[in-house]
Amino acid sequence: MSDTIDTIQAEEGLDPQDWDAMRRLGHRMVDDLVATLERVRERPVWQTVPEASRAFLRQPLPQDPRDPRDVYEDVRAHVLPYPTGNLHPRFWGWVMGTGSPMAMFAEMLASGLNWNVGGFDDSASLVEDQVLGWCKQIMGFPADASGLFVSGGSMANFVGLAVGRDARAGIDVRRRGVASAAARPVLYASRETHSSNVKAAELLGLGTDAVRLLPVDAQYRIDLDALRAQIATDRAAGAHPFAVVGNAGTVNTGAIDDLDALADIAAREGMWFHVDGAFGALARLHPDLAPLVSGIDRADSLAFDLHKWGYLPVEAGCVLVRDARAHQDAFAVKTAAYLKPVHGGPSARLSKFSDLGVQLSRGFRALKAWMSIQEHGARKLGRLVRQNVAQARYLAGLVAATPELELAAPVPLNVVCFRHRGAPGSSPEAQDDLNRDILVRLQESGEAVPSGTVVGGRFAIRVAITNHRSRRSDFDLLVRATLRAAESVRDARVTRGA
Ligand SMILES: Cc1ncc(COP(=O)(O)O)c(C=O)c1O
Repeated sequence: MSDTIDTIQAEEGLDPQDWDAMRRLGHRMVDDLVATLERVRERPVWQTVPEASRAFLRQPLPQDPRDPRDVYEDVRAHVLPYPTGNLHPRFWGWVMGTGSPMAMFAEMLASGLNWNVGGFDDSASLVEDQVLGWCKQIMGFPADASGLFVSGGSMANFVGLAVGRDARAGIDVRRRGVASAAARPVLYASRETHSSNVKAAELLGLGTDAVRLLPVDAQYRIDLDALRAQIATDRAAGAHPFAVVGNAGTVNTGAIDDLDALADIAAREGMWFHVDGAFGALARLHPDLAPLVSGIDRADSLAFDLHKWGYLPVEAGCVLVRDARAHQDAFAVKTAAYLKPVHGGPSARLSKFSDLGVQLSRGFRALKAWMSIQEHGARKLGRLVRQNVAQARYLAGLVAATPELELAAPVPLNVVCFRHRGAPGSSPEAQDDLNRDILVRLQESGEAVPSGTVVGGRFAIRVAITNHRSRRSDFDLLVRATLRAAESVRDARVTRGA
């Protein structure tokens, strides 16, 4: 018989022939991962992928099966040794959480049983509901508010602003599109606001021209007078101010806008009040810090990341929306017959989550949050957040006490921006160059990974502390390593004759 698609050949699947061998391999992976975490301090914070591994990772498409043990050996040799570094006690670059062993296992369980958290009648939906309930409690949102686990802060900002646009743009955006607006919808935020909010405005069809990025005060908080004036100017010009974004912890310096004042302005102007609390919202976990983000509980929508200051592994973003109906109205799909629940079976609540966001099929992100909160309790997580704030103040003190260094911005929360002053009389440009070189040296030495940014027009080394493994001695080391890096940059320049 000819071999056509109708011919039933020997049937096969992807499960192992030898379950015991697969179990042993799995145990080995777990052992390797736990050993890595147990000895995390012994490894460099970060190292580049060597050429041999880069070359290895440029392979043609494999066509035939291999022994799973060999596959894992390759991963062990070429992938596992070169992580981003955000599990190390001295990784403070960008804003990344550290992850934890329990959350790692939660990820394994989630993908092991391959839950699709679309709103089926399964345990995952109940777990997500419960974690969202806890999040509402932490953030001071009402129990009947709506919420969703998403990939991260960017998606959480997108979802929050999408609801705001649909609720306040004054047009039937979903049917008629933004272009049908009689008056251009305009969005307000400080110029320190994270780029994901601007990207959201672009994706929502508003355009960057509709985003007013306003000046900040000396504490890098939105200038409220400038905001009021801009709203008035825009109204006079026939535009439609529809939303304001407040920052609970800006990415650059951790600045916290006056959220109560923004809530008042938004209420008076009939605008949507979205808060980007990607990491800063988690300050609500500790009673000593919660007053810093006062007013966050008045947001119409709030974005935050448990993969930042919740210390979970990526991805774990969350968005809360006060008006559950508005949240539904922005995303619910009523027309797809294949998504309609029937009266029983697994699909009884189908679309529940997809009606609140972009994704239809969704992973079980909430499990790692549930297990981590159960394992440690909210109070301990709050103590860790407070510990990071205390560490930021400690580092700020070290910088202030080191004549060669200076703080580049105030330290209201957990972000420390500093720079090396350079040789006496150095120009700002020379200082910026020096600090860029110091940063790269620090990172490439494997001793510490801060990241870089520009504050007040000048380059700064930025330390964002959302790391449960850091200890005070790590910050002592950072200062010593910075001074050493500065010397080696200078030596290298002398050698080059620069
Ligand atoms: C204030 C702020 N908003 C939004 C984001 C974007 O979050 P994500 O990287 O999870 O998309 C970040 C990331 O650092 C952030 O710091």
